[in-house]
Amino acid sequence: MSHFSCSVLDFCEIYSRMRLNRINLGWLLSICVFFVVRISFTQLCNAQGVNWGTQASHLLPPNTVVEMLRTNGISKIKLFDANSRVLNALANTNIEVMVGLPNDLVLAMTDPAQAAAWVRDSVSRYMHLNGVNIKYVAVGNEPLLKNASGSNMKILYPALVNIQNALNAAKLGDQVKVTIPMSADVIQAGSRPSGSTFRMDILNLMGQIVAFLSQNGSPFTINIYPFISLYSDPHFPVEYAFFDQASVFVIDGMYTYYNAFDANYDSLVAALAAAGPYESMDIIVGEIGWPTDGDVNANLAYARRFNQGLLNHVSRRVGTPRRPNLMIQLYMFSLFDEDLKSIAPGNFERHWGIFKYDGRPKYSLSLKGANGASLVQAAGVSYMPRHWCVYNSKANDQTSLADSITYACSLSDCTSLGYGGSCNTYLDADGNASYAFNSYFQRQNQMLGSCDFNGLGQVVMVDPSVGICEFMIQIQTPNSDAESPARSRIMCLTSILLCITIILMQRTH
Ligand SMILES: *[C@@H]1O[C@H](CO)[C@@H](O)[C@H](O)[C@H]1NC(C)=O
Ligand SMILES: *[C@@H]1O[C@H](CO)[C@@H](O)[C@H](O)[C@H]1NC(C)=O
Repeated sequence: MSHFSCSVLDFCEIYSRMRLNRINLGWLLSICVFFVVRISFTQLCNAQGVNWGTQASHLLPPNTVVEMLRTNGISKIKLFDANSRVLNALANTNIEVMVGLPNDLVLAMTDPAQAAAWVRDSVSRYMHLNGVNIKYVAVGNEPLLKNASGSNMKILYPALVNIQNALNAAKLGDQVKVTIPMSADVIQAGSRPSGSTFRMDILNLMGQIVAFLSQNGSPFTINIYPFISLYSDPHFPVEYAFFDQASVFVIDGMYTYYNAFDANYDSLVAALAAAGPYESMDIIVGEIGWPTDGDVNANLAYARRFNQGLLNHVSRRVGTPRRPNLMIQLYMFSLFDEDLKSIAPGNFERHWGIFKYDGRPKYSLSLKGANGASLVQAAGVSYMPRHWCVYNSKANDQTSLADSITYACSLSDCTSLGYGGSCNTYLDADGNASYAFNSYFQRQNQMLGSCDFNGLGQVVMVDPSVGICEFMIQIQTPNSDAESPARSRIMCLTSILLCITIILMQRTH
């Protein structure tokens, strides 16, 4: 089982000693606990966390993901909810967890009884019964984002207080800390980091929140996205997003900034200092990363350059100009690509993973900094058959082509086709149609009839991928294999055999 950190050798050693010295089970357990703790401690050294989102049509089994986390030495995970399958897979692993209270539950938490119930069902239960190592509760996710903050202004603070009270009542107040992952736009950026304050429309509320977090020994959590700065500001100097350059810098009094990350981080430090005696408050970077598709700047080379640069930067423990020599705590965004995410922010939104949808690393990345091991792919992933759906340009009736493409894309993911996307320069119009058809076919688990498109689609067994433009084969999931052709064929054969058996048995009676 995944939760035994003791290696086989450790076990053999323990077992043989037990035989020799007749050591009882208690001793055996203590020795095992020692190994588990020792190994986890070495993992925790220097380790950064990763966000594990689940907005995808086909999710790897949580146990497969947890095994992948352990293989890669990822010992801190941030979730966006308290999904029971995910939390159960994290049981007894010692992986440190931040569970999330989704924004749509914040309102309910203004009722103390509901807050107590949520803490009981989503936190205490997993900690007590299943040994999930929950360290933080995130109340809402970017609840004060400029466009969305109105609805949360009045309810966020009472919800935060009620969750804290519920944790205290459950005697978890010391062990589990509340925090609120804030979007970067809670800060009114000055022309320099030192001139930053919290945004005017939420200034009082932020003052209240920060005071409360500070009182309870809780960290301030902020999401930092130099990619978004670059995406939304045509004048943003590209090089300033990265960590390996010295040509673009910002001088701010006694401090000089050579990358946007340090500047953003110190803007928060300045905003905290401006809000009261909070200059040295603990800060967690709740999300940081770089997407690989869906925009001209979202590509493998930039993503690797940014993420590895960031990880090297924090592993050197240089801190930032305002907080030198600090071990910065962060959660990479994100573990996987998520094909059900809204693309309102842009086509890149579904492509933040350091792993692809199926647990293959997208590029070499060492989470421990410069000389660490590179990411390793998930083991034991099962795929659907190597069948692709493509457009047949020789079909007689071509009238429904445009509608078919629109339909296919509306029910699957075509974000790689757009400007700047990984398939944009590789495919012609026919290729676009094929890509759309295949996306739909895979989303439908290669179901019979899902490559029809009024006769315009055909199933092929030769991979149509070209260059970095990948025509996917979807993974098998518990839901998908119930519908896959192979599975239904087996089901069908089984029922026929069963049927024949029953008939034969009746005849012999
Ligand atoms: C936020 O609001 C601005 C201006 O009202 C709008 O242009 C932008 O698309 C909105 N962003 C999101 C993510 O809704
Ligand atoms: C393929 O589709 C994308 C997205 O709709 C479009 O931007 C692109 O121009 C298309 N390519 C061709 C050759 O039609």
